[in-house]
Amino acid sequence: MAAANGKTRLNGPLRYAHITGWGMAVPETVMTNDDLAAIVETNDEWIRSRTGIRERRIANERESSATLGYKAATAALEVADVLPMDIDLIVVATSTSEHVFPSTANRIQDWLGASKSGAFDLAAACAGFVYAVNMAAQSIRSGSINTALVIGAETMSRVVDWNDRSTCILFGDGAGAVVLQGSDQEGGVLSAVLRSDGAGHDLLSIPTQNVRELNGHRLGKMSMHGGEVFKFATRVVDESIRQVSQDSGITLNEIDLIIPHQANYRILQSAARKLGLDMDKFVSNLDRYGNTSAASIPIALCEAIEQGRIRKDDHLVMVGFGGGLSWAAMTVRWGIPEPSSLQANPLNRQRRRAVYALARIRARWNRLRRAWSNILRWSNPRNIRLMRLRRRANREKLP
Ligand code: COA
Repeated sequence: MAAANGKTRLNGPLRYAHITGWGMAVPETVMTNDDLAAIVETNDEWIRSRTGIRERRIANERESSATLGYKAATAALEVADVLPMDIDLIVVATSTSEHVFPSTANRIQDWLGASKSGAFDLAAACAGFVYAVNMAAQSIRSGSINTALVIGAETMSRVVDWNDRSTCILFGDGAGAVVLQGSDQEGGVLSAVLRSDGAGHDLLSIPTQNVRELNGHRLGKMSMHGGEVFKFATRVVDESIRQVSQDSGITLNEIDLIIPHQANYRILQSAARKLGLDMDKFVSNLDRYGNTSAASIPIALCEAIEQGRIRKDDHLVMVGFGGGLSWAAMTVRWGIPEPSSLQANPLNRQRRRAVYALARIRARWNRLRRAWSNILRWSNPRNIRLMRLRRRANREKLP
């Protein structure tokens, strides 16, 4: 795949794709390990020692991957000071969309009033965010777009089996988003490694109504072979970090920060040991959020930035792994100044608010207009006659 010296060029010179905005959103409701112990036979000590998780956030009935993703997106647009109509592409990495279609990206595009943007969801489970950032970055680098919004958003609490203590303890809900923009300034996304091993499809899966055989699994609920997934994760995390740093021409010691998918603290410890790196180089917040699948990397990235752990010209590696089996790693050379020096233009802030409000009004107006035109259509005497004729024809066709 194309690295910093990638060869695809559609129009104009090859550009660099920089992360210029970031945002996150998590539900307010906290579920602690003790709360979980009231649902399944488990305890705080077991969960903490095997996973590192202390608590996770759980969406309420009014929240979904789309609403959380929208909140994270508005925060990211604020930091980047980008107007919704300047977004060219919205990609949402998620496994917990409200619908098969429309995509979560479609809903968020509408709510943002991003009137000139394409939008689609990307399914690569917990590796989805890295896949999505790479897709957006390559589109920017090729010159076909300039501004992309990439979101990882999940409501895992809706797909875990709350009777299965080996999976329900691991997951939580949340969303994170980044804005990527083209620039002539060197840096940004340097290179990526995307991988898949479909032979492991049954190790971690959520069957839909289209599945051919359920094989003992529950429709719409997650099932997992924890031990096998653990072995897979500990193998691919260090392998893909080595590969991606080599592709981007940096040594392991030149990596300033690793932002891994937040699945299990022991997986991160194993990767650190194999790579010979200090645990301080790994961002970890899974004690507070658990595994939020495609949302975990952007949430961890946001927190690392807010904590001042990322400075200009730092080399970051993001690494995701999960269902598929799929995994992905990416190096980024951080190209923009410290967050404290970033100030959104107050006029643009007002314009963004106006666009969001207008988008809501437009969505309501469109629904009303459709309902009204249906009423008019079916109250037209010609249509009423046609409908009667059709009904009669159908009756006569019946044996
Ligand atoms: N509370 C208490 N006991 C539990 C438990 C829980 N929540 N879940 C499982 N157990 C029990 C098991 O029943 C088993 O009991 P047994 O020995 O009497 O049969 C025992 O604990 C050990 O189970 P095991 O599955 O071997 O534990 P483990 O050390 O492998 O840890 C996971 C289980 C799920 C934490 C671990 O396999 C893991 O993290 N895997 C990776 C999962 C992951 O990250 N998935 C997402 C990837 S994106």
